Amino acid sequence: MSEISTPSYAGKQWWKEAVVYQVYPRSFADANGDGIGDLKGITAKLPYLQKLGINVIWLSPVFDSPNVDNGYDISDYFAIMGDFGTMEDFDELLETAHNHGIKILMDLVANHTSDQHPWFVQSKSSRENPYRDYYIWKDPKGFEEDGTPIPPNNWASEFGGSAWEWDENTQQFYLHIFFKEQPDLNWENPRVREDLYSMVRWWLDKGVDGFRLDAINIISKPEGYPDDPDTDFEKHTSSIPFVIAHGTMVHPWMKELNAQSFGRYDVMTVGETSQTSPEDAKLWAGYDAGELQMIFHFDHMGVDTDPEGSLGGKWSYAPYKLSELKRILNAWQTELEGNAWGSLYWNNHDQPRVVSRFGNDSPQWRVKSAKQLATTLHFMQGTPYIYQGEELGMTNVRFESIDEYRDGDSIRFYQDMHVERGNLSHEDAMRAIYIKGRDNARTPMHWDASAHAGFSFGKDVQPWISVNPNFAEINADAALADENSIFYHYQQLVSLRRGELKDLMVYGSFKPLDVEDEQVYAYERVGGAEGTDASQSLLVISNFSEQELERHYEALEQAREAGASVELVHSNYADDQGATLRPYEAKVYRISR
Ligand code: NOJ
Repeated sequence: MSEISTPSYAGKQWWKEAVVYQVYPRSFADANGDGIGDLKGITAKLPYLQKLGINVIWLSPVFDSPNVDNGYDISDYFAIMGDFGTMEDFDELLETAHNHGIKILMDLVANHTSDQHPWFVQSKSSRENPYRDYYIWKDPKGFEEDGTPIPPNNWASEFGGSAWEWDENTQQFYLHIFFKEQPDLNWENPRVREDLYSMVRWWLDKGVDGFRLDAINIISKPEGYPDDPDTDFEKHTSSIPFVIAHGTMVHPWMKELNAQSFGRYDVMTVGETSQTSPEDAKLWAGYDAGELQMIFHFDHMGVDTDPEGSLGGKWSYAPYKLSELKRILNAWQTELEGNAWGSLYWNNHDQPRVVSRFGNDSPQWRVKSAKQLATTLHFMQGTPYIYQGEELGMTNVRFESIDEYRDGDSIRFYQDMHVERGNLSHEDAMRAIYIKGRDNARTPMHWDASAHAGFSFGKDVQPWISVNPNFAEINADAALADENSIFYHYQQLVSLRRGELKDLMVYGSFKPLDVEDEQVYAYERVGGAEGTDASQSLLVISNFSEQELERHYEALEQAREAGASVELVHSNYADDQGATLRPYEAKVYRISR
């Protein structure tokens, strides 16, 4: 382990003040007309992102990959996927982004590799191969009467079926928490860790600005590999089994990774950690923990799931209650404050589109609702992440046939539940996919109203996944031409956070209001912390309903009585009607005492 001292992440930091935009390269912009987004496409769109005002891009994986899981199955950490271009294209993107004042975070997928990675090819070749223990190989628990080997335990893969795959040649099982083409690395092996750390340093030395760490809380498997009490193979999990998360070595290894790589650089790190509580978050992203700067938690992504549902995991839908969403987000806000930093997101490449999910995507309310959701989130404490197309109010998609879907998770769900077991009708299986499928987020970005939404210019080429048919109305060209568009609402949020309201929006204390209210999300951000002006606060009021409501807030009334100045600084309506809240109205007052 290195001797360097643990960095402290307390106090003011550039990454706390940043606004991140996530690019899913396959679906962002296709510069060479082959129907697949690429690096040159991203470079060409940097002025658009600069206009939005963001200053960091999180790039979903661009490394060489056979693409079973769209790049989350890496076969070469040091090469760019052919579909996306070359290393020269990457260097050009990095340099041009830096010239635009935009930093780039890479996606570090280190829990597993592709089964085509040379390490795994070697590992699989024989039990004696020096790379054998780069992965997790186990003997069968026994054999069925017909000779079928029984997996070492009952762990389920996130994408359905057993997490163990039998290798006939060497007569052992290997572990894959995700697809079977994504074998889990064996972090217990110090050579694996060394190789990973040196790869991370290689990218840092190239000048990248940090990492999002994929599935990082499952790198340490629980001792003894115990059975998972929650496994039910009749269901289709699509979430990480709880028993696998947060193994005993995860924090020592994170500290080691930090000390051996990014802790030595002024970069940004965010860990993808499902099954994580605010208490755990202090271990991961505590200011003095010497691990990561922030994590993504998933608690709010579960509010519209029925844990008792018959489909399993995310697939069993239940309408969400606003009080529950608030309870979760408020707890993360208040419990982290002063201890650890958080991230703010509604969307990513694994989640349905937020305006369709927690908002209202009908033609009448989509614009208001998308803006209202944005305001609700961006005034909280934490680093905000905007997922491509969110700033246009892009919606979920409904393809008629399963053949139009590309995500193996949805395809497998349909296969298992409808085709093989016949537990679900075609309609019910499709309904679940419409609501929760990952392809909702992965249809091509809508740039304009031309063919393929301007995503791809290939004449006779179809995009790798069909475009959402509503692109003629919802697209960047139209948004840029309309001063009342969702785009400009996001632009204002970013500009307030990075400019005029920076202190309060980034560092102000969070105070929840009216936690039981099922229609309105209200909270305050109060100055005082981190040297912010204690005489200032923000009051955020956000109507999640289609109804006109009447709400009075003490903070406002008291401020007015005390003669403080109350100024409307942000809203999704053109005027203010005081206590009357119109459908999906979101507004923010600055109170100066
Ligand atoms: C989380 C990623 O966000 C998801 O897209 C991927 O399928 C899994 N990790 C496996 O890498």
